[in-house]
Amino acid sequence: MTADTPESQPVKTAGALKTRTQALKVAPLQRNYSLDALYKHWKVQPHIGSEFDEGVQIRDILNAKNSDALLQDLAVLVSERNVVFLRNQDVTFEEQKELVDRLGIAGGKPASSGLHKHPVSESSSEFGQEAYVISSELDKRNSAYNTASELHSTQWHSDVTFEGAPSDYAALKLRVAPPEGGDTLWASAYEIYERLSPAFRLFLEGLTATHTGDGFLALNRLGLVNLNSGPRGSPENVGVHLSAVHPVIRTNPVTGWKGVFANKIFTKRINELSKDESDLVLAHLFNLGTQNHDLQVRFKWGVNDVAIWDNRSAFHTATLDFDFDAFERLGERATSVGERPYLDPASTSRREALGIAPPPSRRAHLATLGAGVKN
Ligand SMILES: [Fe+2]
Repeated sequence: MTADTPESQPVKTAGALKTRTQALKVAPLQRNYSLDALYKHWKVQPHIGSEFDEGVQIRDILNAKNSDALLQDLAVLVSERNVVFLRNQDVTFEEQKELVDRLGIAGGKPASSGLHKHPVSESSSEFGQEAYVISSELDKRNSAYNTASELHSTQWHSDVTFEGAPSDYAALKLRVAPPEGGDTLWASAYEIYERLSPAFRLFLEGLTATHTGDGFLALNRLGLVNLNSGPRGSPENVGVHLSAVHPVIRTNPVTGWKGVFANKIFTKRINELSKDESDLVLAHLFNLGTQNHDLQVRFKWGVNDVAIWDNRSAFHTATLDFDFDAFERLGERATSVGERPYLDPASTSRREALGIAPPPSRRAHLATLGAGVKN
């Protein structure tokens, strides 16, 4: 583990940050360093994932006198690191909802965006429609109806991207965890963007993609779930078509960094390309996320652990490797609704913004370009 020095150091990047701030449509959210002064956290991997020391409680952050300042810092931390982990939390589901909603507000989400009500959230859930239940019992029931694939990596996604206004922040607390297995992995959309050549970035930045929740539509057709026609946390999220068009490259307003916004479960088609071209390009983008384990982090859950992530710039997938008949995996996700996704041409990659070198593969390619070798 490494000490979790902030990604956005004001001294190191003040000049660049000022320039970026002036050029961007939305100024990146700034740290005030109140959180770091009170609570220790560390980097789980160099480019993704931070974890707080044991004993730090979300409830204390929510109830602190300076909670707005602390949550502003936490929003920056989650958006920069993609996902943040806190062990053994006392937090109730009501507090989980308050947490993600206030993180979204700190991050500047529209006033019309609240908490997401998932189109298939069981109205019978003890926590209500704003709880998305993560349950191995439900998975067991639904998996019989899903398209079987031997590739576990088909399940990478970010949450509810079939909505016109998808999620910014989400928090999951597992109340029941298997003794081993059931890990969740996250991947950085910022780092996937870093692996693209300048020419390919330019090409992708003019494109949009259609995202559809066809798995939920299929469960509805089979009579296994009812669909909630909304509004689902935003006036943008209505109807039961569960489909939306988003830019392929998206700017995260909190960091001002670009990321690839296409995921294996919901992104079906790049609209401006033929089907064959779209399949080819999407397969490449998905492979960059699933086959680069240096841009992933894997979390082993303990009971009552909480993960908070930024759905705008991170993908995730669960690992259903334990015995469903012997053990259970159960928790609730609270999901904040953010802005309609956009690309700000003035935004930059994460590494460019932080002044750190591109990944080794990019560096090698750029060197060949610099030497005049044809691409
Ligand atoms: Fe998810």
